[in-house]
Amino acid sequence: MPTLATTVDGLKLPNPFVIGSGPPGTNLNVIAKAFKEGWGAVIAKTISLDSSKVINVTPRYAKLMGQDGSEVVGWENIELISDRPFKIWLDEFKKCKDMFPSGVLIASIMEEYRKDAWVEIVERCQEAGVDGFELNFSCPHGLPERKMGSAMGQDCDILTEVCGWVMAASRKPVWAKMTPNITHIEEPSRAALSAGCQGISAINTIRCVMGINLETLRPEPSVEGYSTPGGYSCKAVRPIALRMVMEIATMMAKEFPGRSLSGIGGVESGRDAAQFILVGADTVQVCTGVMKSGYECVQPMQEELLAFMEQHRFNTLSDFKGKSLPYFTTHFDLVQKQAQRKAAQKAAMQKKVVTSDAEWSGDSFVQQSNALSRE
Ligand SMILES: Cc1cc2nc3c(=O)[nH]c(=O)nc-3n(C[C@H](O)[C@H](O)[C@H](O)COP(=O)(O)O)c2cc1C
Repeated sequence: MPTLATTVDGLKLPNPFVIGSGPPGTNLNVIAKAFKEGWGAVIAKTISLDSSKVINVTPRYAKLMGQDGSEVVGWENIELISDRPFKIWLDEFKKCKDMFPSGVLIASIMEEYRKDAWVEIVERCQEAGVDGFELNFSCPHGLPERKMGSAMGQDCDILTEVCGWVMAASRKPVWAKMTPNITHIEEPSRAALSAGCQGISAINTIRCVMGINLETLRPEPSVEGYSTPGGYSCKAVRPIALRMVMEIATMMAKEFPGRSLSGIGGVESGRDAAQFILVGADTVQVCTGVMKSGYECVQPMQEELLAFMEQHRFNTLSDFKGKSLPYFTTHFDLVQKQAQRKAAQKAAMQKKVVTSDAEWSGDSFVQQSNALSRE
């Protein structure tokens, strides 16, 4: 019987399904619900020291429906980080660890470009008992206007410096969460790992405009008639997320073997999770999927991943982690491989051409006849 249990950076997870930072981990009530439903770990909604600067608008989500209008395939949000006071969060982290001592609780943190702020947020969260940190270098809207989030994640020098501050202060594993709004996601990933982070999480949302209302001619989601580009998530982003996780995993295998990778973006099923693990992820995070289907979705996800493992006789996640990576290559190499295969086929065909009657064979009689026929 295969097992989904896994140990990542010393954290013992009953399964690789992790609540991704966002509404599904936004207060103690919902975090408790996640642990009760059996999620492998919870990454809480991103917090900062001063929540008074965080002011959200409504509406802040917009959905892209599939062709028959019944399925949500894409989701835009212009939601900021948590608007709840830091002190309340610390209290809830403590309560959560009392309620679920073995539950893996990870704080997602974000601060301005100031060493004292990053050190303070790390120290106070770890005193409250969290098991690890995820550094949000990736929120694409609102926060970059304050030089936070993806504004930091796109600047490798700043990122190295900030990760260095965090690593000096943290006694817990640290994952750096990457923005996809960059051409080469390996570069900020490399910067964070060089600074000592234990792992990488990827991806956060992709900067987008959900659509334009053809009656009002205004962009959506519309707030007082105006909008701003937001972050795109849900199953529509999965191919992009898979590509980026594959690129990071390929770089990590060469340069940082043994570091961890958490795959995020459009995971809604066990088979989606299997694909992220096959391209090198240790865990998968789910955010929009929980907003669509509820916390209970972790049960069918686990069953489906186990069924996939049984089908291939994999006993543990590490039996198939990264197993598809060797099958990625360059386009140039694809052309060469195809030319080699065609040349080999042609040579084999030529071998079958009978040059004297003594060469006719009972086993390949039909092929030999065909080889002597007009095309
Ligand atoms: C409404 C909403 C709020 C989010 N808030 C945060 C956040 O506070 N911090 C963060 O790191 N990511 C946040 N995310 C990004 C998700 O954690 C995740 O990286 C992204 O949505 C892709 O995964 P998904 O398709 O499973 O949602 C948010 C996503 C959504 C949809």
